[in-house]
Amino acid sequence: MANIVNFAHRGASGCCPENTMAAFSKGLELGATGIETDVQMTKDGTLVLIHDEKLTRTAGLDALVASVDYSEVKQLDAGSWFGSEFAGERVPTLEQLLELVKDTNTIVNIELKNGFVQYPQLEAKVIESVRRYQMTERVILSSFNHYSLAEANRLAPEIATGILYMEGLYEPWKYAQSIGASALHAPYYAVLPDWVASAKAEGVIYNPFTVNDPNEMKRLIDAGVAGIITDYPDRLHALL
Ligand code: G3P
Ligand code: MG
Repeated sequence: MANIVNFAHRGASGCCPENTMAAFSKGLELGATGIETDVQMTKDGTLVLIHDEKLTRTAGLDALVASVDYSEVKQLDAGSWFGSEFAGERVPTLEQLLELVKDTNTIVNIELKNGFVQYPQLEAKVIESVRRYQMTERVILSSFNHYSLAEANRLAPEIATGILYMEGLYEPWKYAQSIGASALHAPYYAVLPDWVASAKAEGVIYNPFTVNDPNEMKRLIDAGVAGIITDYPDRLHALL
């Protein structure tokens, strides 16, 4: 039995509208031991969980998250685009997710979505929430914006960080260590057993994304990864 964190990517996004409370709850029901989610900030500084910088695709308003107050965002329907049975799902706040999992052992992988829009104090605000919920041991902050991770490590060295990337980086564990990160959130095709072993020898773990094919899940489990990020936590659960 492999002890691997089963991260539901944007919640159980294979069967529910991504980044909604329905998707997070369903993920846990399907055997996820971790939740991956994307955090952005409204105009008035509320931390909300949504993947795109714009509300268009999942919440039906053609506007940047950064340009709308939370009082307006919370009126939007973030479920109907996926299926009428999800009508009325909302764009959740980070706090709503932390509230859901605070009395569980669930690991929360909070992706700071500040690659395109630079949200002032995003790192500090996320860290404040995580500390307030006393979840520093169960959170990993990830981002494609590695300056943001370096800043998070400076502000909160007690919270783990993982670098997200899309390329075949050379010896990424060395690079990760240079910014104080302890995990590699790599595209699954850039994960080979030798690299996992070399990273592990340096105290750096792999949490590859986004892995939906059970054969690929098996390959990565055998390679020794620490976690797998999937839209289908039930498929991974069946293998573990
Ligand atoms: O954390 C893995 C994955 O979520 C990164 O890509 O675009 O799905 O947020 P994206
Ligand atoms: Mg993400």
